[in-house]
Amino acid sequence: MEQGRPLYIPVILGTSRMGRMSLHAARLVTGELSKCAGVETELIDIAKLPLPTNDAGEAIKHADFSARVNRADALVIVSPEYNHGYSGLLKHVLDSCLKEYIHKAVGIVGVSAGPFGGVRSIENLLPVMRELGLVTIFWDVNFSTVQKVFAEDGSLLDEAYLRRIEKFLNELIWMAKTLRHGREQIPLN
Ligand SMILES: Cc1cc2nc3c(=O)[nH]c(=O)nc-3n(C[C@H](O)[C@H](O)[C@H](O)COP(=O)(O)O)c2cc1C
Repeated sequence: MEQGRPLYIPVILGTSRMGRMSLHAARLVTGELSKCAGVETELIDIAKLPLPTNDAGEAIKHADFSARVNRADALVIVSPEYNHGYSGLLKHVLDSCLKEYIHKAVGIVGVSAGPFGGVRSIENLLPVMRELGLVTIFWDVNFSTVQKVFAEDGSLLDEAYLRRIEKFLNELIWMAKTLRHGREQIPLN
């Protein structure tokens, strides 16, 4: 089904915080995704998107981010947990696009200092995903007590995460292929 054109699945790093541990998680997932056959990926760092904060929504659409989301077959969102929610800047960036997301798959990676692996951040993102037209998968990756999962240089200390990421990506790729087929082959009406 996917011979020829690879899937494009960028990873969005959902925080600009200095010293963010989510960067290690995002780099790890991007690296694992890049090993998957028939997939192109890259890390989109929201800290590098110069969106104004005195406006919101599609009025501040960033051409390059919009083009990447438009090209994407699926997204991975790496979402740190901030006061049981997701980061405000992540929402600000996501709000800048709309039709670019429709009928595309999304998988969410939660990151927290606490023991719950960002689950509250993920749960709070789910209704946002639905409103954007994204299709969520039923696997997440949860980096709990993330400061113990990665060394200071970003190397992975707990190999168990590799198997979890593999299961998550398998499901995401299946959903990405399925939805690409639907977008290209199945009329909406
Ligand atoms: C404003 C703020 C709120 C936070 N709230 C929580 C929280 O509710 N639960 C938790 O486990 N960790 C919380 N943390 C810690 C982050 O989850 C931790 O820094 C983790 O590494 C992910 O965020 P990071 O990528 O910014 O490092 C908070 C951190 C910040 C900066």
